Amino acid sequence: MERVWWKEAIGYELYPKSFKDTNGDGIGDLKGIIEKLPYLKELGIDLLWICPFYLSPMRDNGYDVEDYYAVDPQFGSMEDMDALLARAEELGIRVITDMVLNHTSDRHRWFQEALKDPKSKYRDYYIFKESKERPSNARSCFGGSVWEKVEGDVWYYHTFDKTQPDLNWECKELRQEIYRILNYWLDKGVSGFRMDAITYIKKGDSLKDAEPQGEDGLHDVADIGLNQPGIGEFLLEMRKECIDGRDAMTVAEAPGVPYDKIGEFIGENGYFSMIFDFSYADIDLAPGGNWYYQADWTFPQLKKLIFHSQSSVQRQGWGAIYLENHDQSRSLNKYFRDKAARPYEVRKRFLQSTALGTLLFGLRGTVFLYQGEELGMTNCPFASIDEFDDLNTIDQYYRALKAGCDEKKALKFVNDRSRDNSRTPYPWSSKKNGGFTEGTPWLKMNPDYRENNAQRQQKEEGSTFKFYQRLIRLRKEKADILVYGTIEEIQVENGPVIAFSRKTESGKTISIYINMGEEEEKLPAEDGKCLSCNYGDMIFKENTLILRPYEAVMMEKTQD
Ligand code: NOJ
Ligand code: CA
Repeated sequence: MERVWWKEAIGYELYPKSFKDTNGDGIGDLKGIIEKLPYLKELGIDLLWICPFYLSPMRDNGYDVEDYYAVDPQFGSMEDMDALLARAEELGIRVITDMVLNHTSDRHRWFQEALKDPKSKYRDYYIFKESKERPSNARSCFGGSVWEKVEGDVWYYHTFDKTQPDLNWECKELRQEIYRILNYWLDKGVSGFRMDAITYIKKGDSLKDAEPQGEDGLHDVADIGLNQPGIGEFLLEMRKECIDGRDAMTVAEAPGVPYDKIGEFIGENGYFSMIFDFSYADIDLAPGGNWYYQADWTFPQLKKLIFHSQSSVQRQGWGAIYLENHDQSRSLNKYFRDKAARPYEVRKRFLQSTALGTLLFGLRGTVFLYQGEELGMTNCPFASIDEFDDLNTIDQYYRALKAGCDEKKALKFVNDRSRDNSRTPYPWSSKKNGGFTEGTPWLKMNPDYRENNAQRQQKEEGSTFKFYQRLIRLRKEKADILVYGTIEEIQVENGPVIAFSRKTESGKTISIYINMGEEEEKLPAEDGKCLSCNYGDMIFKENTLILRPYEAVMMEKTQD
């Protein structure tokens, strides 16, 4: 078994704007991250993914970069970043940064130069087209056409917001600029990158018209603009120019990679160390990308998606595992829906969040927690559309109204799916604003922070935080099985029970059972030593495992 640090690492995604504010402006900052690094260390984190902190107009909270070589003043300075990297290193925490390379902000110097002078070399850094008509009917991810008119008959292309023009990877000089940026950050001491929206970089079908999908006459770019033939050449070149020969890793946001092609991305000689799979994180979304069509899914379907993903990845390479991120609602609400613990239902929240934690730390792949998941945070109730910040949420709200939903319904859909659910400021204590800021938080705090906060959970033995801490320790202690072991689903007849085993070549086995339902479930099982159970100890009688509501168990097979 060859040991690889990024396979064993426990990742944590950190959203700087919402983590910890130190200067009272209501916005989290790099000094705040430095202050809280020991907290992450205590939890057991050794790989930090920091979402964009580069200079940005913040239309999309930093995923619209104005300068890749500068820290946005609202987060601090490059000195703060250097101090953060140094402190993290002292604590044994590696840092990866988020690279947004499919597009820049329209305020980026390159784009400004391109607009000013059509003959400028920067014109070729973006996708400009001269055409009397809109060049194609792809719909951007945040609504409206992917094409925006600039002057006369000239249009530019954007997969996301119109303030996020796409880069033209066909341009060699642009690619060289990109590699310079990556190498700059690696030289500074980061251990790699999370690659934003990287499967959009090659354009192909979305430059042509497609069958209209709705009244707007447009077709979702996610259906036609991902993984276009030829993308591999760019990705391989980037790996060779920046990653090969370095002690670095990459994790790509790579929706739309079909399982039969996944080896090209994450196999022995793949473009990335690992990629995120969206199949089960997006189980609640119906095709078409509209939040007002919610998918009606079942636990057996969820299991199918999880194990299809796990077995396809296992056959071909290495994956990244997550249940939450900054684009998702909180996992408790997503996976337990109307049964999810409500604010102040402390026991239920503990059971449900530790059931999900057992799943997360049991699966095969590098685990990425998202901030607040270790507290079992739930969605935040937003009372009106004015309380949201996210441009995607606001677009989805108006799409729902246009499609005929009344305001109440539209508000419910965005409450269920809004990216702001995971972006609410971090609750550190029961103090005003959860100790996140002395000022006014940039986004509403989840109102339950007086009861649910880090300080309290760090003290209480029976907290989600403590349980996750133990699961992390267990995953490290039993890395031969829980990191490197193979995974196999255990077929059970109980719909809401997710069951699987992890195994080493020598036959060491850990079996994992999670009851996602609110009823007791009984199932035949082999006895073993209980390693973890969110009820304290498991009940096992006459070859039958009895799982109470939301009970989650990890047991090790006793060696004969
Ligand atoms: C994916 C990021 O995760 C999301 O937050 C962002 O809005 C888009 N890419 C555009 O960069
Ligand atoms: Ca601040």
